[in-house]
Order: sequence, then structure tokens, then C-alpha cells
Amino acid sequence: MKKTLMISSLKDMERIAGIVAECAMSGWVIGLKGDLGSGKTTFTKFLARYLAIQDTVNSPTFTILKVYQGEIPLYHMDVYRLEDIGYDYELDEYIYNEGISVVEWYPYIRQMLPESILSLDILRTSEDARKIIIEGSGDYETIVETIGHRYCDKSYIPQPRHR
Ligand SMILES: Nc1ncnc2c1ncn2[C@@H]1O[C@H](COP(=O)(O)OP(=O)(O)OP(=O)(O)O)[C@@H](O)[C@H]1O
Ligand SMILES: [Mg+2]
Repeated sequence: MKKTLMISSLKDMERIAGIVAECAMSGWVIGLKGDLGSGKTTFTKFLARYLAIQDTVNSPTFTILKVYQGEIPLYHMDVYRLEDIGYDYELDEYIYNEGISVVEWYPYIRQMLPESILSLDILRTSEDARKIIIEGSGDYETIVETIGHRYCDKSYIPQPRHR
């Protein structure tokens, strides 16, 4: 299942991240793809907020992995520099564990990820506008449908989770 969603502002990005956070379950792997500055980290910051994570989420570019504790733990990875830094990170211990893994630049480690993931391909269409192609197979198939429906219903406001 694949859906294309139009994002016209940061507020829309917050809403889509909030909707994904509402649906997210422990064990999920969310792959993010898109050029530099497309909004992968911005999406993750909003996602964390709706997962009721209190810490500030920053880009893990130079650390590869950051762990945030919440009702469900969040593992935020940015594998852009993984090749420079070296592959001796035990990322799979996080990816195949309880918690939600978000992987910026996931195509770089596609073979390390489960076959089914939820992927968001973010395209910058103007300063504030983005196009998101959201896709999921396996367990994520029906979720993509739900996320798409909720997002397209402009009156739908996602609610942050409770800790
Ligand atoms: N609708 C929008 N969605 C996301 N970001 C937006 C939007 N409009 C403007 N921006 C701005 O675009 C920038 C996106 O930067 P961000 O760090 O999230 O990109 P990134 O994809 O993580 O880049 P990198 O590949 O360097 O990690 C931020 O400064 C953000 O405020
Ligand atoms: Mg980033």
C-alpha cells in the first residue's frame, strides 16, 4: 500500500507525525528518505512529541543512534555517515527489539532492516511544502490506509500519547 500526501506547512508535518505516532506500536521500524533538509529530523521531532517523549530530539548524524525513553522507547538513527564512522554499531539490537526505530537515510542499510517497514519518502516542493510518499507492506499495509484517511480528513487532530 502506498499513498501520496501533500504537506503545505510545518503544521501539516506535525499533523502527519502525530497521526503516525498515534498508530505506532512497539517493534515498528520507520524508514525516512529524502534530500538534505527535506524534513526527516523535523518529522522525528514531532513524532517524539506525540509519543510523549520529554527530551529534545536532535539530529543523530554524528552519533548514528540516540535513544529516548517514553511510554515506548524511541531509537532515532541517522545512517548517512555510517560508512565513514564504521559499521561496528549494533543497530540490529535496537531495530529488532521493543521500541520504535526511526531510521533517517534508511536505504543505506535496507538489507539490515526487516522486510516490512513503514517508509516515508519526503520531497521538498517549496520552502514550506513537502510531498510524502508513505508506503508499507505486511503488517503496515492497513496502517498506511488509516494514516492516509486520517491525514486527508482536515478536521482530524491527533492526540499525544500519555506517559
Ligand atoms: N513542511 C515542512 N516540513 C518539514 N520541515 C520543514 C517544513 N517547512 C520548513 N521546514 C524546515 O526545513 C528544515 C528541515 O530540516 P531537517 O533537519 O528536518 O531535514 P533532514 O531531512 O533531517 O536533513 P538531513 O538529511 O540533513 O538530516 C527545517 O529547518 C524545517 O524547519
Ligand atoms: Mg536529519
